[in-house]
Amino acid sequence: MTVPARAVAPTLLQIDAVLSRLHGRPALQEVCRFLHESFPTYRWVGVYRLEGDALVLDAWEGPEATEHTRIPVERGICGQAVRENRSVVVEDVRSNPDYLACFLSTRSEIVVPIRDGGAPIGEIDIDGNEVKAFDATDRAFLESIAAKLAPAVHAAALEPRPPG
Ligand code: SME
Repeated sequence: MTVPARAVAPTLLQIDAVLSRLHGRPALQEVCRFLHESFPTYRWVGVYRLEGDALVLDAWEGPEATEHTRIPVERGICGQAVRENRSVVVEDVRSNPDYLACFLSTRSEIVVPIRDGGAPIGEIDIDGNEVKAFDATDRAFLESIAAKLAPAVHAAALEPRPPG
């Protein structure tokens, strides 16, 4: 368990505060930064947005950039989460044949859909450096956050993309 029970409600209030002052990609970026800073096992935190048949990386925070800035929905754990419209927790990425490697240090991953009207429009993707870094507590916590992010994801879709 990464998130102590006592941290859940205050964190959700802080996310609300972020989303009341920032919109679009800057809001997603600040949510990524805040989660990465607050929970040490969240080693890399990103938000992908569904654009046609691909997931586009809109914001991330972590020690390294990923080469997977655009992931076809038929690929990876990221693709699986939107295809199946459910949260996916991978306890050990080394034993998951669908895993798309980003960082040598990654051992586990959690991907949580961001939905609008029940349909996935994006996702939160978090990598951990320990096997079984994420459990049902993380899933419930991140699903609560994802439920707040649809407006920011929609707004990000309308913003010009930075080069690269
Ligand atoms: N591992 C992901 C790709 C994205 S990186 O973790 C940043 C996957 O298997 O879809």
